[in-house]
Amino acid sequence: MEEKIYKMPLIGDPAPAFEAVTTQGKIKFPEDYQGKWVILFSHPADFTPVCTTEFMTFATMADEFAALNTELIGLSVDSLYAHIAWLRKIQELKWKGMKNVEVKFPLIEDIKMDVANKFGMIQSQSSTQAVRAVFIIDPKAVIRLILYYPAAVGRNFDEIKRALLALQKADKDGVATPANWRPGDDTIIPTPGSCGVAKERMETKSEDKVCLDWFLCFKKEKKTN
Ligand code: BEZ
Repeated sequence: MEEKIYKMPLIGDPAPAFEAVTTQGKIKFPEDYQGKWVILFSHPADFTPVCTTEFMTFATMADEFAALNTELIGLSVDSLYAHIAWLRKIQELKWKGMKNVEVKFPLIEDIKMDVANKFGMIQSQSSTQAVRAVFIIDPKAVIRLILYYPAAVGRNFDEIKRALLALQKADKDGVATPANWRPGDDTIIPTPGSCGVAKERMETKSEDKVCLDWFLCFKKEKKTN
């Protein structure tokens, strides 16, 4: 039998297309997600402790992501029935103030690892379980950010939301975001591409920007709260 060779998708690549059976019915990516940001994430297995805390957390934040025009899609190398049973069990659990947590976003059944392999989610850690991968995919179906965590380390979903907000800000205003940026913080103006622009940037005073040097200028953002 011919062995399929998968190339690991990288930032800037078109996200691989797929069709999948999920806990919310069949989905077709990217067709079903036109004009939306997508967070596609994998976890090693259903009914495992770290994954359970992650699902409770992400499901609780689902409305916050929806408000950012962002759809969530989960994946693990488990059957649809295992997914359904696990999501029903999650609804019964209480943890850190979260209870009655209903996972309304689709969780992909990927027993054959078709989708996991396309996204490089099966790594040296295990040949049958996905790593904790996160792909932030933009409305043009381009991969914009990738995170990989091993099985033992639960993800920080506030950071995933912060990174999404940073990408959306960068796209909207043509800026970059500094270390530990939070919404409302000053952003970074792209580095000048010529000596003339560098000189002008240092010599022109403006209330909207502050430069530490020609290559490091901040755009002052209006604080919203
Ligand atoms: C967990 O979610 O707790 C887990 C999953 C796979 C391997 C180790 C831990």
